[in-house]
Amino acid sequence: MIRIGIVVTGLCLVACLGSVGSAQDDAAQAAKDARIVETLLRLRSIDLEARQDLRESVLRYLGTVQGTPRYLEVAEALHISEAVPSLIELAIEQSETPLGIAAGRVVFRLGGDAQLYSAYGEGNEETQVALVRVLGGIGNQATSEWLSSLLTDEGSTRAQRQQAVQGLLGSRRGQETLVGIIEAGQLPAELEVFTAGEVEKANSPELRERLAANLDLPETADAQPLPPLSELLERRGDVEVGRTVFFGKGTCANCHVVGLEGKEVGPALTEIGAKLSRDAMFVSILDPSAAVSHNFETFVVETIDGEILQGLKVSETDELVTLKLADGQVREIPTEFVDLFQKQELSLMPTGLQKNMSADELVSLVEYLSTLKPAGQP
Ligand code: HEC
Repeated sequence: MIRIGIVVTGLCLVACLGSVGSAQDDAAQAAKDARIVETLLRLRSIDLEARQDLRESVLRYLGTVQGTPRYLEVAEALHISEAVPSLIELAIEQSETPLGIAAGRVVFRLGGDAQLYSAYGEGNEETQVALVRVLGGIGNQATSEWLSSLLTDEGSTRAQRQQAVQGLLGSRRGQETLVGIIEAGQLPAELEVFTAGEVEKANSPELRERLAANLDLPETADAQPLPPLSELLERRGDVEVGRTVFFGKGTCANCHVVGLEGKEVGPALTEIGAKLSRDAMFVSILDPSAAVSHNFETFVVETIDGEILQGLKVSETDELVTLKLADGQVREIPTEFVDLFQKQELSLMPTGLQKNMSADELVSLVEYLSTLKPAGQP
């Protein structure tokens, strides 16, 4: 027993010394790699294709500065195409920061655009949103063209098209491209309200002016055309009139509660004035599917006898799917009768509700909604 103990300790000693030695080697190697990178950055003229040993130093060095501006600087200056996958990852992770956009730019400079587009094709929705943000932020000719085809391509989903609009609005060149698409009448009709809302957010009076006449909002009562969104936003409504519309002909209270009043199908609007800006409220009413609230996605169930039910998902177990229908009815469907169960892109909130009101009443409705805030909040 004792002998085994000594042998084990002895082995450990050797192993530990070994690892101390290699840590020192690593530090020395790292210092050497850093010196090599410095020199290469100064000289620039050395062909790294022909000097695999130097290239490996650079790659090791990059491994130590991953996710930093230095990584971008070195990868770009020394044309390290192996850096493209890491840069794409960084761009996705940091898509809301200048570092993420800068990483995307370096991907282009290293000729990695095809890889970036295929990351989009293979990515989930979150990844796609991030990449469109990066492409929008880069805003060069190639990215603007790509976003413009995402927007107009028949195969794109509504969510992707909306992303493309947001992406294009992210740069001056993209905005020009978007104006071109809209003026040529190529913007899909279902995106007009959403785009009008995004243009408001972009907060560029010039853009607003150029686009106002070209982005048609849907008709209100008596088939009267609505004025452009920017004009609606300048008007002020009457809170009392808005309240009457909400609980009356607007039919809003059939699906929404305010305080204790109304029916709870969609989200409670008791504090909606603190959540949404006025332009977002107009978009919510005129085009409910532009932004479907989380947990309020519409599901469709087709039963084996061919009945089709549409509603919000209350719960789903191995035995039972429970849906809340648009009229507030709750239906339980045993899973053995379910032929198809699918999430929809469209909101359960119907489009065309503004047809029950005039433009003034719509403005008043939004005025009323903006007053709905937590107690004590101005
Ligand atoms: C048939 C039911 C139904 C009717 C009628 C309805 N809504 Fe909705 N509404 C919903 C559902 C479901 C959602 C959540 C899904 C979504 O965001 O589209 C929603 C979402 C909203 C939102 C966004 C809420 C948030 O938290 O972001 C607003 C604002 C809104 N409705 C206002 C109205 C107004 C104003 C009316 C009347 C003009 C109205 N709704 C009529 C079902 C309805």
